[in-house]
Formats: sequence, structure tokens, C-alpha cells
Amino acid sequence: MGGDDRVILITGASSGIGAAGARALAADGWRLVLASRSIERLEELAGELGGSERAIAVECDVMEWADQQAAVTVATEHFGRIDAAWANAGFGAQRSFLGDSVEHWRAMVLTNVYGAALTIRATLPGLKETRGHLLLTGSVAGRRYIPGSLYSATKHAVHGMAESVRQELDGTGARVTLIAPGIVDTPFFENLPLEQPLVAEDVARAVVFALSQPRHVDVNEILVRPTAQPL
Ligand SMILES: NC(=O)c1ccc[n+]([C@@H]2O[C@H](COP(=O)([O-])OP(=O)(O)OC[C@H]3O[C@@H](n4cnc5c(N)ncnc54)[C@H](OP(=O)(O)O)[C@@H]3O)[C@@H](O)[C@H]2O)c1
Repeated sequence: MGGDDRVILITGASSGIGAAGARALAADGWRLVLASRSIERLEELAGELGGSERAIAVECDVMEWADQQAAVTVATEHFGRIDAAWANAGFGAQRSFLGDSVEHWRAMVLTNVYGAALTIRATLPGLKETRGHLLLTGSVAGRRYIPGSLYSATKHAVHGMAESVRQELDGTGARVTLIAPGIVDTPFFENLPLEQPLVAEDVARAVVFALSQPRHVDVNEILVRPTAQPL
């Protein structure tokens, strides 16, 4: 099996891309630490993926440093190591600088940017030990400029962090992959803006690809759009 019993911690594993990634990685032989705020959904998924020998659920609000540290502690105590971490938790907002509440903005910036930075900080010591692999979920929105989109700005920040941490880790043997999806059919969208979007399993395959490369290959970025997505 590709994962060879290696251990991955995934934030935002309760839904959409994170949950599909968890299923694909479990099928590839990875053991999983599933983190998000919805503990019941995570526990259900962990059960589906083989129970505590193969997958565990950890309640974690990525905005909280104590939660992120606790997730890493639980992972390390349970499985003895962390070989990969995937900072995937995130959500969007209306496309207008007059849209949504300022509280919604605050939570989005703290989740998408600060939360991802905390995941990096919490997992980096373990990843250096195992010469492991860090993944970050960016977005096509982190590559281009979208009118009125603070969400897009948060993803530009994630793209910046991916390259910054790659440079920091250079020479340690650890690797960094930025996964930048186009439009994916998940609960992220209330109304999908495209007729034929990606499905979460399409992104999951990209994650499995990045994680299955030989040690000397570091897939730094995968941008994957639906075949028909103009921007
Ligand atoms: N769908 C798309 O078109 C698309 C495109 C490009 C990039 N992305 C990115 O892909 C990632 C996953 O999104 P998705 O499409 O799979 O949406 P989703 O189905 O809504 O999943 C979002 C995940 O983030 C978690 N999350 C949100 N806030 C959190 C917090 N404070 N602490 C911990 N977990 C939190 C949610 O878990 P809980 O609610 O259980 O905490 C959930 O598991 C996000 O970073 C998103 O920006 C999505």
C-alpha cells in the first residue's frame, strides 16, 4: 500500500475535500487523525475507516492554539508519529467588501490564515523528525484576483505560506505541497456557480498523488480546475 501505515493529520476532515481525502488516503494505506469541530461526524468517519487502529477523531477548532497542540499530542501518543499534516480547514464569504458581517470575516481570516499557520507550527517539529510532508489547501482563488473577495485574499496568504515554509524546510528532507482546487461540489457553496464542478474525490486523487512520490520528489503545487472553468 502507498501509505505504508504512515500517519496523517487532516484538519477540516469532517466534510467535503478533507473527508474525501481521508477516505482516499485510508484506501492507500495511511492511518488518519481526523480533526475539526464536529466530533460526531469525525467519529463516524473514523469508524467507517477502520476504527482506532486506523483512524481517530480529534475535536479541534483550528483558530485555537491549545486545540491544535492537543491534536498533535493525541496523534503522537496514539500512533507514535506524524508523517504528514494537511491544513485544509477553511470557508468562504460573499464576494463584496460590504457583504457578510465583520464577525464572519474575522472567523474566516482566523480559520483560513491563522488556523493554517497554527497547523504548520504545531506539526512542524514532528514532520522534521519524520522527514514528513505538509499539505495546504489553497485555491484557484489564491492565484487570481476576484472582485470583492476577502476569501481570495486569505488563499493568497495560504499560497504565500506554502512557499515560505517550503523554503524554511529546504534541506530537512520534509516536503510541502499546495493543493489549489477550482470549483468543487462541497457544502462550501450554498449555490454552485458552475454546471460541472469538480467533486471532492477529484481533489483527493491529487493529494494521494503528491503523497505517493519517491523521497527525492517534492510536488510543490497542484492546481486542478474543472475542465470548464473560465477563470
Ligand atoms: N469547494 C471548493 O470549491 C473549494 C475550492 C478551493 C479551495 N477550497 C478549500 O478547501 C477546503 C475545504 O473546503 P470544502 O470545499 O471541503 O468545504 P466544506 O465541505 O465546507 O469543509 C470545510 C471543512 O473545514 C472545517 N472547518 C471550518 N472551520 C473550522 C475551524 N474553525 N476549525 C476546524 N475545522 C474547521 C469544517 O469542519 P467543522 O465544521 O466540523 O469544524 C469542514 O470539515 C477549504 O480550505 C476551502 O477554502 C474549496
